[in-house]
Amino acid sequence: MNIHYLKNLILHYIQATLIDVLHSPFVYKLYKTSIKKQKNNEAFEAIEKLRQELKKDNTQIAFNEIGAGSNFARTKTMLVTEIVSKHAKPKRIAEILHHVSLNNHCSYSIELGTSLGISTAYLALAHKERALHSDILMNSVEGNKSVIQKAQSNLAKLQLDGYVNLVEGNFDAVLDEILKYYPQLDLAFIDGNHKKEATLMYFQQMLPLAHNNSVFIFDDIYWSKGMTEAWNEIKKHPQVTVTVDLFFVGLVFFRKEQAKQDFKLRVL
Ligand SMILES: C[S@@+](CC[C@H](N)C(=O)[O-])C[C@H]1O[C@@H](n2cnc3c(N)ncnc32)[C@H](O)[C@@H]1O
Repeated sequence: MNIHYLKNLILHYIQATLIDVLHSPFVYKLYKTSIKKQKNNEAFEAIEKLRQELKKDNTQIAFNEIGAGSNFARTKTMLVTEIVSKHAKPKRIAEILHHVSLNNHCSYSIELGTSLGISTAYLALAHKERALHSDILMNSVEGNKSVIQKAQSNLAKLQLDGYVNLVEGNFDAVLDEILKYYPQLDLAFIDGNHKKEATLMYFQQMLPLAHNNSVFIFDDIYWSKGMTEAWNEIKKHPQVTVTVDLFFVGLVFFRKEQAKQDFKLRVL
């Protein structure tokens, strides 16, 4: 754990608002319906069972640290158990992604960073419920071929593969092309390539598809000074109105009827 992360974790817990003193009806409702621990959903148990199986999987698969700018020419390997333990969002955060998508009625979503498909499954599950009411489109992008192949089989096991397209490629190369298929973007989850410039570039690329009810969710906003700088720039953007900092992820809203305001809430 780096010093920047630890310092901000402590600060977050000191500064975060206790929900009782929240004066924004919008954020209060968001907290009650999506951020606060909700009743257990049986479908989550299937995803968590799969997570436990992956944690016991000692298969080695090819894995390059794309986001950290490593050399593609030299393929490294990682154990499936290491990948799921290091990269997959914990259940508590993955549940929040699911509830935000569901309660925000998100039909058009994108995830940058599929890894083994754990957060993808939570989001696809929300789309499965949404599919009864609307056309849906979700793409999840991953640059590591062996990893995305494993994610595909994981989603098939969960019978969620019909609700998300997995796209293999570097975000920098494929994002613009993928976005051409979206009439609007209801939800974007950015969970890969945690660098300031890259994060701001993806934000700018997706921004034209944002609308009044869109939510963009940025992972690991305190992972490094650069990521926190990116988060602070995003918060200041004139199109952004409400932001909700949960420390582990930051939620960005564009609701014109809201006064510009930044919230910090505790999730754990
Ligand atoms: C933290 S993991 C994603 C975890 C996943 N969202 C979950 O919670 O289960 C980030 C993933 O993004 C991928 N990635 C990072 N930078 C990328 C880039 N520029 N293009 C494509 N994939 C990238 C990595 O290979 C890694 O698998």
